[in-house]
Amino acid sequence: MLVVGGTGLIGRALAAAALAAGLRPLLVARHDPPAGVVAPGARCLRADRRELPALIDSGALLHEHERDHERALGVVDVLAEGADEAAPLLAALSTRRGRFVAIGSAAVFGQAARGLRHAESAAPQPGTDAMRRKVALEQLVAEEHRRAQAACVLRIAYPYGPGHGPLTPLGRARDLFERLQGDGPIDWVAPGVFAPLQPLAVADLARVIVALLTRQAPPPPLLHVAGPETLDWDAYLQRLTQGRALGGRLRLHDGDALAAMQPQARWIVEYLRHAPLLDDGALQGLGLACRTPLAQAVPAWAEWCLSGRP
Ligand SMILES: NC(=O)c1ccc[n+]([C@@H]2O[C@H](COP(=O)([O-])OP(=O)(O)OC[C@H]3O[C@@H](n4cnc5c(N)ncnc54)[C@H](OP(=O)(O)O)[C@@H]3O)[C@@H](O)[C@H]2O)c1
Repeated sequence: MLVVGGTGLIGRALAAAALAAGLRPLLVARHDPPAGVVAPGARCLRADRRELPALIDSGALLHEHERDHERALGVVDVLAEGADEAAPLLAALSTRRGRFVAIGSAAVFGQAARGLRHAESAAPQPGTDAMRRKVALEQLVAEEHRRAQAACVLRIAYPYGPGHGPLTPLGRARDLFERLQGDGPIDWVAPGVFAPLQPLAVADLARVIVALLTRQAPPPPLLHVAGPETLDWDAYLQRLTQGRALGGRLRLHDGDALAAMQPQARWIVEYLRHAPLLDDGALQGLGLACRTPLAQAVPAWAEWCLSGRP
């Protein structure tokens, strides 16, 4: 299983899930991962993704026995920045058995109406170039699917877990758990200013990807992967505090005040006001729904955030 962008949040969880399922992950990233970051048994390849087409063509990427075209090759494009980037990976699969899974994003729906859950059939309304490129990737994968290539894009909302700090009203902040344990003020968003979240435990996402690569039926071209809860920002903070009362430490702000506190975070403030919700009914129909509630995953995640480990 080739994982493009394999040493970050999703790649680390995926390597562990793949090994547990008997797959052999090869994790591609530009830098060697720090010691202890990837699961023992996962191989790493230091390369820029732009080098992959030539490496795949030359056969140098895989061990001798893995070049056997009868063996299935799983390709997971975690970065999946656009159709041009993914095309050579799909082409590599066109001559052998295998499956392709790319990580997409809920943000292709742009600024969504509150409370509306988007199904895979809902039309994306991308508001940024990055999301327009994700939509082009979805279109390429849909085309490949029509040509009987087992390829799939997973639109995900808010993946979390060891590897990234928690989302805060001003973006990801690894030191949030430390601040929650202290006694200083916590700047947070006032009720109703931001749309709710569907936090997705990255270990659940990894299990879904492994299942889509290994189950008998090929995956559909597009799937929504969401966590089991829809939480407003108050409930989300309660889960992160693990029962610890914040007393009068909470300072609540509206969106403009938040953006004024950190002008470079204005885009995330604007996005979070209308962040889309995903309907994961199709995934549930495949028996693959993600079920880990945030409260259950927080202790291990907080431990990683507090540990200082990379
Ligand atoms: N995080 C979110 O809230 C969120 C929400 C929705 C969707 N997504 C999607 O999730 C994906 C990101 O996954 P993630 O959170 O696991 O990312 P991540 O933690 O930032 O990890 C990125 C990985 O890609 C590698 N990488 C970056 N540029 C590379 C390149 N040019 N060539 C080869 N490797 C490269 C990085 O290692 P090196 O730096 O060593 O290369 C690292 O292994 C994207 O498709 C994104 O659209 C994320």
